Amino acid sequence: MPRPILATIHAQAFRNNLQLARRAAPDARVWAVVKANAYGHGIERAFEGLRGADGFALLDLAEAQRVRDLGWRGPILLLEGAFELRDLELCSRLDLWHTVHCDAQIDMLAAHKTNVPHRIFLKMNSGMNRLGFVPDRYRSAWARLNALPQVDEISLMTHFSDADGPKGVAAQMAVFAAVTRDLPGERTLSNSAATLRFPVDPARAAQHPEALVVSDWVRPGIAIYGSAPDFPEHTAAHWGLQPTMTLAAKIIAVQAINTGASVGYGSTFVAQEPMRIGVVACGYADGYPRICPTGTPILVDGVRTRTLGRVSMDMLAVDLSPVPLAGPGSDVTLWGIAANGAVLSIDEVAASAQTVGYELMCALATRVPVEVAE
Ligand SMILES: Cc1ncc(COP(=O)(O)O)c(C=O)c1O
Repeated sequence: MPRPILATIHAQAFRNNLQLARRAAPDARVWAVVKANAYGHGIERAFEGLRGADGFALLDLAEAQRVRDLGWRGPILLLEGAFELRDLELCSRLDLWHTVHCDAQIDMLAAHKTNVPHRIFLKMNSGMNRLGFVPDRYRSAWARLNALPQVDEISLMTHFSDADGPKGVAAQMAVFAAVTRDLPGERTLSNSAATLRFPVDPARAAQHPEALVVSDWVRPGIAIYGSAPDFPEHTAAHWGLQPTMTLAAKIIAVQAINTGASVGYGSTFVAQEPMRIGVVACGYADGYPRICPTGTPILVDGVRTRTLGRVSMDMLAVDLSPVPLAGPGSDVTLWGIAANGAVLSIDEVAASAQTVGYELMCALATRVPVEVAE
């Protein structure tokens, strides 16, 4: 019998979440961001639920090839562009659109031999200071690209650093708007947080046309995986997002312990009263964060309870007090949806681990079997 642990990918949740992104940006086309192997879900597994997107955005050429191998003939965007000259041959062959964020990438394009000009997304560093041309250099980069026979259409792109927090997007939007005002081409700005938190407001657009940049393409990632981009200010349920990944396991042993008994390595949890604890077939080698302390939320038979003590490599312990009928073989939901419909958001578990849902889904271990469900 295989070890009782399973990750399930929910195709219908992808459709729901994609639909929410579309509703937030009704005039835009939607890139489904599927980098990092679809945020740990597996590109092939996520594809069924995401084929309604207008394009796929990622950054690894091998992943782009996998999307083409799935039969996708529509747009694919390389978010970091080419890393070396020969990447451009694959861009030509697979018809990949690609980001240009630095002079070296323009040099590569100038040296690239192709009969089919490329569709380029020229990236501005409008304040995040990660990738892109600074505002003062953006227009000269555009002019250089525009003069190249290897270049077809140039789209304009930036990325927000604070769409999920109090700083918001206004300052970066204003910089982008000022520099690009009279440049032709489609615009792409918004990640999940910007798409959901700053939907285009027609009244504001009429008042401040100079500051408004409408995305022709939005680029949601985390939201399509059912995680709130601005947790804990808002939950996934607040946005109507549904989890696309459930990590489930079973209880493989039960211990009845007395007052004063400890649980697990380092004895970090000590019972204050007699209690039953369940031992779950999931540990940090499965991708469950070791840093999660006693009290991290977890579902047993769809009932919310807490973890106890340190997470070990292959197991962790749970408090069975709220579920007295639970025992060996009972279902445990580490995150996602339980059989009774109860949801434990990956964001809550991530918060206990002092991180974000992104990291947990990306870290699902390869030893965990995965199946796709409707
Ligand atoms: C350039 C770019 N666009 C869009 C996204 C999607 O962001 P999110 O997952 O926060 O929606 C990312 C992810 O980091 C990104 O790097």
